[in-house]
Amino acid sequence: MNQEMKIPQHIAIIMDGNGRWAKQRGKDRSEGHFAGMMALRATVKAAAEIGVKYLTVYAFSTENWGRPQAELDALMELVCTGVEMNTPELCQEGVRVEIIGDRSRFSQKVNDALDRITGKTAQGERMTLALALNYSSRSEITHAMQQLAQKVANGELQPQDIDEQAISQSLYTASMPDPDLIIRTSGECRLSNFMMWQASYSEFYFTDVLWPDFGAEALEEAIKAYNERDRRYGLVK
Ligand code: IPE
Ligand code: IPE
Ligand code: MG
Repeated sequence: MNQEMKIPQHIAIIMDGNGRWAKQRGKDRSEGHFAGMMALRATVKAAAEIGVKYLTVYAFSTENWGRPQAELDALMELVCTGVEMNTPELCQEGVRVEIIGDRSRFSQKVNDALDRITGKTAQGERMTLALALNYSSRSEITHAMQQLAQKVANGELQPQDIDEQAISQSLYTASMPDPDLIIRTSGECRLSNFMMWQASYSEFYFTDVLWPDFGAEALEEAIKAYNERDRRYGLVK
């Protein structure tokens, strides 16, 4: 990659198109999800090498629970397989894994796997990988509002002290800067309940590439497009 290139500090990706990728090949949707996991592995490696500091990926939404049980079972199994397959490499690469979303709906087995990956990678300093699991922006904001209301009820916080910073600090993403660039694959141009608060000034990049075909090259294309953008934040230059 060109030395002059501005590298987004935080990239967030809506990884979409696994099902269509599988369908095009006459395969089961679960095979698309497995291929998607391999694409994530390649993308994480590339992002860390390029110098991205935070990579957030939307892996499972609160709405995705409405999918057929067989697909849900395959996805939950894939979380466990993904942890086993990738934890050593993530440790080696200095990638720290965080989970954003409501973990309470996952089985003990899935939660144990998530504890393993976050525990074993906790020392990683090169890049933070945030996996959005049972995540949705509306549930995240609702949860944050409940926490703030509780603090007010306890007398720990005055209503007038609920400012933008207090809200940001109550979201799952409290420890991360807002995403500079949001990528969505598979040609869909919507947020699907992802990071609505954090995306206020993000740049959006939509590509027709299906998620299992994404990787280092497609990431580089997205960063090139980001470099053409003029981020004005409402000001006059
Ligand atoms: C994204 O791929 C992965 C998840 C939402 C879990 P999809 O499964 O949504 O793939 P398409 O959109 O049906 O092709
Ligand atoms: C968004 O993709 C959620 C994830 C990528 C995890 P979906 O495929 O679930 O979203 P819609 O149905 O196209 O809005
Ligand atoms: Mg989809």
